[in-house]
Amino acid sequence: MNTATSADIDWWTMLTDPDYLSNPHPHLKRIREIAPIHLDPASGIYFVLGHDAFNAMVRASEMGRDTRLWTDGWSRPESKDRDPLSYELFSEFQRQMVNSNPPDHRRMRDVYEKAFRPAEIPPLLPMIERECAQLLDALPVGEPVDFMTGFANHLPLRVSRNLFDIPPEMDAEMARWNQALIKIGDIMMTQDQKQEALDSLRAYKAYLRGHLADRRNHPGNGFVDATLEALDNGTMDEDETLNNMKGLISGNETTVNVLGNGLLSMLRNPDQFDKLRSEPEHMRTAIEEMLRFEPSINFILRVAIEDFQYGDMVIPAGSLALGLIGAINRDPARFEDADAFDITRRPNAQYIFGGGPHVCIGAPLARLEVQAAVTALLDRFSRIELAGEPVWWTDRTNQRGLQSLPVRLIP
Ligand code: HEM
Repeated sequence: MNTATSADIDWWTMLTDPDYLSNPHPHLKRIREIAPIHLDPASGIYFVLGHDAFNAMVRASEMGRDTRLWTDGWSRPESKDRDPLSYELFSEFQRQMVNSNPPDHRRMRDVYEKAFRPAEIPPLLPMIERECAQLLDALPVGEPVDFMTGFANHLPLRVSRNLFDIPPEMDAEMARWNQALIKIGDIMMTQDQKQEALDSLRAYKAYLRGHLADRRNHPGNGFVDATLEALDNGTMDEDETLNNMKGLISGNETTVNVLGNGLLSMLRNPDQFDKLRSEPEHMRTAIEEMLRFEPSINFILRVAIEDFQYGDMVIPAGSLALGLIGAINRDPARFEDADAFDITRRPNAQYIFGGGPHVCIGAPLARLEVQAAVTALLDRFSRIELAGEPVWWTDRTNQRGLQSLPVRLIP
């Protein structure tokens, strides 16, 4: 049944091809139909496209997220000698919950789990609504406007910096750092981009170090206080503290893409957009469908701590496995009429936030941001229409999002 090696697929050509990056779905469908898991013999990397296989992988104790265990990865001695810049960059980025296995992962995640409990997030809604209103107030109506540069690129960053009490004067600098850091782990990353990412990461951490010292005298923000408490009581050292904080703040980049991708899905399926307008009780399922249909990330990684078996496929210890979310979220074995955009879809076991112990801690916040943005758009405008061809980013392999989304907002 399973052609495990699927030798006809040229993974690296495909994954970096602008045609694929603009619309990966036909390619992913073809490959998923061959098998749920593929080994690329050239790189030794496993690609996971099946929903059930991904579900098993992210929950398996054999599979972790510490890329230092990847035997062909950046931390092995030969790689270090061949590409010292990568070694420096990934070492600087390494020590945070998302890159850790037990017990370090749990130790760090516990610091923030309380602050990110679903019950703690709804009180942030007025702040998010205020930011939405300010951004929308500044947009021209009745004429073409780029939804990405006018709205989506800004909202999540503003929300994240409010979360950690960072002043608005930092917006431009943080946006610049984020642009450099978004490339980390991208298979198309050049040496210049690695250097830029490393410089930005160091600048980010230096800023956060000063910010924490400053906020120590002004307690009262739950996210900052939790961070300082963990630093002071030794739960996290300074490098872990700064990396985790940076990781939490830069969760905003994926939310940017969700806002753009979600609006585009609505605009391309006007019957569904109209339905949501007239039946707003579907908001919750509509958001899940936006997340499923055009996921804002392409890969979710795992590194095998021990051999992991799925069916007749074994992912050996030390191997890197990449879940291809575009394929997983449209697996017909899990989703009926998977290529249709249906705002009432239920159940909707979409996997954009990953799963198992590393499931995105910011998911309730991201969902709330999308809800606030879509609600504000529907409340304010009687019609929203496409005003030109949207342009996908085609120089990023690990994120899927829009460079521009021209729309016309009709009051
Ligand atoms: C729609 C927007 C977002 C998407 C698509 C997204 C996606 C993800 C994914 C795929 C993971 C890894 C899950 C896994 O490996 O199984 C993750 C982890 C994480 N995300 Fe998000 N994220 C988003 C927004 C956010 C936000 C707003 C924050 C912060 C407030 C955030 C903070 C984190 C953190 C800290 C982790 C690491 C969790 C851990 O390793 O235990 N994310 N996210």
